[in-house]
Amino acid sequence: MAASTRTVSSIQARDSVSDLPKIEDLNPKKKTALIQALGAITYGELKAYNGAMEQAELCESEADKKTYRKIAAEELRHHKGFSRRLVAMGGDVDRAMKPFMHSLDNFHENKVVDPVAGAVAGYLGEGVAFDLLTWFKKVTDAETAQFIDTVIDDEVEHEQIAIEKLRELIRTTPLGWFKAQLGAYQMLYRMISASEPNSSGPISYTAFLRLGRANELVVSLATGMAKRVALIGLPSFKVGLPKLRILS
Ligand SMILES: [Fe+2]
Ligand SMILES: [Fe+2]
Repeated sequence: MAASTRTVSSIQARDSVSDLPKIEDLNPKKKTALIQALGAITYGELKAYNGAMEQAELCESEADKKTYRKIAAEELRHHKGFSRRLVAMGGDVDRAMKPFMHSLDNFHENKVVDPVAGAVAGYLGEGVAFDLLTWFKKVTDAETAQFIDTVIDDEVEHEQIAIEKLRELIRTTPLGWFKAQLGAYQMLYRMISASEPNSSGPISYTAFLRLGRANELVVSLATGMAKRVALIGLPSFKVGLPKLRILS
């Protein structure tokens, strides 16, 4: 991979899963918290599948259609794999996904109209998926962590495709850099408002914060976004940490 096309995700080291507990070693409270977080992740993967299928329909070239259909197939594999992990923990997939449907549906419906801003959102969204899963791998059971490794391999590739498409769009669109910067601010706003009541953000982070290592999650999401913005050459902005509502 050429240095100029590397992504933030592709250069991060992978942690070992050998120290993680097995499902049968988890206490009921931890299992419940994991089922809740998996509900958000599982529905997020389903939305990613739907989004990639929509994107494939919009593409003009056969090559682009093929790229997005492949991404869609991978997102569906992620959705099915996380559904299986949820069931293995004793959860019900539909019930676990339900609390996250409204906010995730809203987030995906309120799509950014400008194509450059939309491509920025797509690129940063793939990065958020990577950062979230990399963190989740540290707080879950060993078998789920092993599955996450295979998901992360796909997400690194998705981010790579997203950054290449975005760079091309910025280069070929009048005021491309300005529109990209605006898109980055819009995405940042949508992310940091995610934990607010009635927000159009993608998820409530509280499901994840109950699992512990909350500071690592917040720092990872905030710094990950700042690094990705810098990587595409946009002026860096100070990323504010989300205003978190931690429910006990
Ligand atoms: Fe995915
Ligand atoms: Fe993805």
